[in-house]
Amino acid sequence: MPAINEVTNLEIESNIAVLTLNSPPVNALSANVREGLHVGVKQAIEDEDTKAIVLICEGRTFIAGADITEFGQAPKGPSLFEVQDMIEDSPKPVISAIHGTALGGGLEVALTCHYRIAVPSARCGLPEVNLGLLPGAGGTQRLPRIVGAQKALQMVTSGQHVPAKQCLEMGLVDELANEENLLADAIKFATTIVEEKRPLVKVRDNEENIKADKGNDTLFTDFRKSIARRTRGFLAPEYNIQCIEAAVNKSFEEGLKVERDLFTKLVTGTQSAAQRYVFFSERQVNKIPDIPRETEVSEINSVGVIGAGTMGGGISMNFANVGIPVTIVEQNQERLDKGLAVIRKNYENTANKGRISMEDVETRMGLITGELSVESLNTQDLIIEAVFENMKLKKEIFNKLDGIAKQGAILASNTSALNVNEIAAETKRPEDVIGLHFFSPANVMRLLEIVRGEKTSKSVVASSMSIAKRIGKIAAVVGVCPGFVGNRILAQRQREANKLILEGALPWDIDDALFDFGFPMGPFAMSDLAGLDIGWSKETSKGETLRDVLCEAGRLGQKSGKGFYLYDENRVKSPDPEVEAIIRDFAEARQIRLRDISKEEILERCLYPMINEGFKILEEGMAIRASDIDIVWINGYGWPVYEGGPMFYGSLVGFDKVLDWLNKMEKELGPEFAPSPYLEKVVKENINIFA
Ligand code: 3HC
Ligand code: NAI
Repeated sequence: MPAINEVTNLEIESNIAVLTLNSPPVNALSANVREGLHVGVKQAIEDEDTKAIVLICEGRTFIAGADITEFGQAPKGPSLFEVQDMIEDSPKPVISAIHGTALGGGLEVALTCHYRIAVPSARCGLPEVNLGLLPGAGGTQRLPRIVGAQKALQMVTSGQHVPAKQCLEMGLVDELANEENLLADAIKFATTIVEEKRPLVKVRDNEENIKADKGNDTLFTDFRKSIARRTRGFLAPEYNIQCIEAAVNKSFEEGLKVERDLFTKLVTGTQSAAQRYVFFSERQVNKIPDIPRETEVSEINSVGVIGAGTMGGGISMNFANVGIPVTIVEQNQERLDKGLAVIRKNYENTANKGRISMEDVETRMGLITGELSVESLNTQDLIIEAVFENMKLKKEIFNKLDGIAKQGAILASNTSALNVNEIAAETKRPEDVIGLHFFSPANVMRLLEIVRGEKTSKSVVASSMSIAKRIGKIAAVVGVCPGFVGNRILAQRQREANKLILEGALPWDIDDALFDFGFPMGPFAMSDLAGLDIGWSKETSKGETLRDVLCEAGRLGQKSGKGFYLYDENRVKSPDPEVEAIIRDFAEARQIRLRDISKEEILERCLYPMINEGFKILEEGMAIRASDIDIVWINGYGWPVYEGGPMFYGSLVGFDKVLDWLNKMEKELGPEFAPSPYLEKVVKENINIFA
């Protein structure tokens, strides 16, 4: 086959030129691919026998977008615009033949083709928004010219991958091919286009689908309102909207200019840098250096869960959702019935929102069996313990399980802080014991910390990673240490937040600062939600801490209508002068002088110690890499994606600045701020911790 370059081939068959890209893994538009496209289309245009050109890809997908790794580097080879102009201005029809996904720059290339054919399983989308970007190769101008402003707004702000059948209905593709016969059907389609002398359709010239919305400001105002909550803090969704607005109200060329200017702003900004980093980090987190991809994994076809409380119920739902039968064991019938009823209610709520059918509810409930004895866990492939956080109890359970579970079963604990090695030592098979730390609500939260014990086998870690993927979790492998990675870092923020209240910041000052930073909720609103009385008892309370005083005053959190905040009947919170008075009295009694604390200081105090703890975690080898820590904090604790996680954020602030601050604080406030030696080394030797 005549090669254009190492990733592109051109073959001419009965007057149809077939230009094939083969640049694994996803045919991203690297310099080589752009070069191949540019030269290939040009050659086909110049070839006298060629009547039409089919653009098709090998491997798992059509072009999945620009090559993200090239962003920020000096441009090489022809630009994407040059490639697009070559295609769009071709005097011979160019047809893109789509399988897998046509995403971002890939769809933008397809939109400069005169026609598009796709297999039914293909999907098209402009997902740049998820990388903090907007489609920068004319996508925001061409898409609405096919699907109209409303649908274009939805697509560019959600990044949704639209199935081929829907694309056909919207006019985004012109023809569906047979799933197994894309190339042959594309050639046939191209031949028909030539024979019927169909026009060279240029999407850019199509004003038909946008003219009705010219000057329709309401469309955009309403749309902005509809996504405001979901997109709070993100720049890219708004910039995408502005581009669609330009597409509707300006000429194609003017719109393109708006798109280019806004794209440049985004691609050079920190939000997109953070989001692109998160994209690669999410893929990196699956790679465990000493566990090769080919490591044997055990198949998990049945699961046992011990404890049907808050966590056990949610954990069980994950497996039932993907068709894996679950046996839940409780200590008595009443608790078992309660646990199962909560699961049913959760499923019914989801069904009421239309996300699953009532039939699905029954199918999933049918996969969950309740039992009252661990003896019934003798056949399951994976057993997850989720009883109270009590070492003695957990040890008893693992000791018992050792005699019951089948050989080769994975024995997991959902402990949030206890020592997994100690738990494993209760069994004669510590290599099969692992921590699977789900986050609450376990059926919703994406994060899973996989706690690798001293003796946990590689195969058990690999199997846990594999089952995590199957149930849709993003899993990070962490080591055994108090609080593992997530809660260990959280403890830093919590400590400083609590201290700050007794220095003069009010709970809502702290919550607001963190909410404005991008967290869904601050620590005090969170405490109110969880209940201030977790781990507190009326009998032993001596009014020693602020929490004691609040609980003694009946302020237990949302459930009692007041905690750090006051709640109305709709559970909407407001600051409470009574809490301010309680804090003042508490401080006065201890001769603590309160002072004004700025938002900036609140953020430094809450966030910098977290970064420092991240370095300690890396130093001790409790996380594999800095980006894994960020993945934990983004997916388990709501760290805003556009700030990249604590470690990435630290790099934006400047690790040298964080170190200086810690040194200063250590002198002023005490040893809890002592910098990690690894942080000192990173600053001194200018080490790139993300390399
Ligand atoms: N550039 C560079 N590398 C990419 C890439 C891209 N656009 N898309 C995927 N990759 C890499 C991944 O990092 C991964 O590398 P690894 O194997 O070394 O970890 C490999 O390709 C395979 O990716 P996945 O593991 O994600 O494979 P899946 O099969 O699960 O998913 C996919 C495939 C749906 C294409 C998914 O990779 C994806 O969503 N990619 C990003 C698509 C995207 O955002 N496109 C827009 C890019 S920005 C743009 O086009 C700007 C333009 O408007 C100018
Ligand atoms: P929970 O109190 O809601 O549920 C524990 C359940 O275990 C109770 O229903 C109890 O009856 C049952 N149980 C106790 N002993 C048992 C036994 N011998 N046999 C069978 N069942 C028994 O507690 P929750 O919140 O679900 O926590 C469970 C575990 O998950 C704890 O280790 C906790 O630290 C951990 N965890 C909790 C999170 C949370 O946000 N609640 C988050 C992550 C982990």
